[in-house]
Amino acid sequence: MRSIYCGNVNLSNKDTDVTLCGWVNRRRDLGGLIFIDLRDRTGIVQVVFEPDNEQLHQLASTLRNEFCICVKGCVKARPDDQKNKKMATGEIEVYAKELKIFNKAGVLPLDFNQDNTEEQRLRYRYLDLRRPEMVEKLVTRAKITHFVRHFLDEHGFLDIETPMLTKATPEGARDYLVPSRIHHGKFYALPQSPQLFKQLLMIAGYDRYYQIVKCFRDEDLRADRQPEFTQIDVETSFMSSDDVRSVMEEMIRKLFLEIKNVDLGTLPVMTWDEAMDRFGSDKPDLRIDFELKLIDDVVKNSAFSVLSEAANDKTSRVVAFALPSGASLTRKNIDAYTDYVKKLGLSGLLYVKVNSVSQGLEGIKASFAKFTNEQELNAIVNATGAKDGDMIFIGCGKRVKVATAMGSLRLQTARDANLVADGYKALWVVDFPMFEMTEEAGLTAMHHPFTAPKNVTPEQLIADPMSVYADAYDLVINGYESGGGSVRIYDENMQNAVFTVLGISKQEAREKFGFLLDALSFGAPPHAGLAFGLDRVTMLLTGTDNIRDVIAFPKTTAASCLMTDAPNLANDDALTELAIAVTDIEK
Ligand code: AMO
Repeated sequence: MRSIYCGNVNLSNKDTDVTLCGWVNRRRDLGGLIFIDLRDRTGIVQVVFEPDNEQLHQLASTLRNEFCICVKGCVKARPDDQKNKKMATGEIEVYAKELKIFNKAGVLPLDFNQDNTEEQRLRYRYLDLRRPEMVEKLVTRAKITHFVRHFLDEHGFLDIETPMLTKATPEGARDYLVPSRIHHGKFYALPQSPQLFKQLLMIAGYDRYYQIVKCFRDEDLRADRQPEFTQIDVETSFMSSDDVRSVMEEMIRKLFLEIKNVDLGTLPVMTWDEAMDRFGSDKPDLRIDFELKLIDDVVKNSAFSVLSEAANDKTSRVVAFALPSGASLTRKNIDAYTDYVKKLGLSGLLYVKVNSVSQGLEGIKASFAKFTNEQELNAIVNATGAKDGDMIFIGCGKRVKVATAMGSLRLQTARDANLVADGYKALWVVDFPMFEMTEEAGLTAMHHPFTAPKNVTPEQLIADPMSVYADAYDLVINGYESGGGSVRIYDENMQNAVFTVLGISKQEAREKFGFLLDALSFGAPPHAGLAFGLDRVTMLLTGTDNIRDVIAFPKTTAASCLMTDAPNLANDDALTELAIAVTDIEK
């Protein structure tokens, strides 16, 4: 029907006829002329209806916002004083000769000229998606997937699909289950990731695999998490972790150049230990240029027992940072930050207001002034690098807990004080601990149980699992975990040793992963891979911190779809066929 998109009409079409299809963005009646801003996914163009064609003019006067129409007309250059530099099509307008109304639109539940609630936007998502801001995000997402497919194809990766109806994959979340009609009482699990299948593809000899694939995880949702999300999933054989990282780094660097014209540079590599010590996070945001400092040595002889006890306890740490220009924070601000770290498990927050170092105790005000002295405060100022006008915050506690809490406080105070620089900062975090403690004091794999440990035998792994590091790596951009992967175990004995440490019995391991253990005994190659979160990469490249903005039809944080009303009740016949009885229904 159309001869050209609205956004593409320009002076090169001058004095020619065009046919446009789209939606009425706005109608203005001015002195007999009717102006329509006609919109499609590429942009907006101005259409003019003159009064001399009475019938056409009359029809145009019935147009309202969001009517879907087709206009045929002639492109004319606008007089110089009417050119609109802000519009891509601002040098021309289209003089209408014909108009067809495909469909009228009722009173709109969304007002495109003001902010609508997210609930309303999600309920009428098809209208929300008409907004140019949303179009831009989805177009960028399509450019990203196109670029990634092209890059991986050029580097010899094969796009291979893996099943959606499958068995549980342990990525740390709950599974979404699908009941089987044929096998009563049995369930498929939707994949949390294609992890096991991509390893099996390596064992099958397809040594470079990729897939842009939906994954499903029933977990607590956040601004950067959805229950169904998309991974750019990659696996390779005969490549070391350095090799894999190098190809993936090239892909991400070129992607940022392509989409944003930004060069991320050669990415720094930081161990997990260093990231936790310096930033209190395994996904440090390097756009903030102040860091945490361990000040155990500085305060180990402090008269203030809160500090000295933590400093002398091997499992604890005293962690501090200097917030630039933070000395102007009010009592209320400090109380709010204290509550913030208390919620993260610390018993309190100490602070030192550095007004003027040269004035000694007059110029350095500590919240624990009664128990300290000038020498100690000067040592703390030096250790944190604080300058006049800064505020030093100090937290004490168990190593990971205090690091995480102070790392979160670093982020929060930096955001509040507008100290997060623009642009992009990316890095690799490597050498994660192989295991972490669960709340029930058991062990769980920090990445997943198929990740290779670094430099240990199966016997050593079993003897001292908490000291073992994993050959795992995350790609972190602006504080987001954008991707993660690892070298995999390709030796059956090592895989069994990991299951043993995780408290998975031989029988349970066979039931859950027997197919993988079998496959490992038939000439499995060394292999490694990773997966990027496509949604998160798109968030970064479109500058939003809400994952729902980059997904056409997302779920709410309560995992429901407001437009379709999913999840929904199943009818009784369907349940009977599945041999399922529902015992508790949400009111
Ligand atoms: P992982 O669990 O780290 O690794 O996931 C890889 C990347 O997927 C993204 N991601 C999510 N994005 C949105 N919503 C979610 N709920 C969500 N969960 C994860 C993150 C993350 O970095 N099989 C391994 C990868 C591998 O080892 O190859 C895996 O799934 O950006």
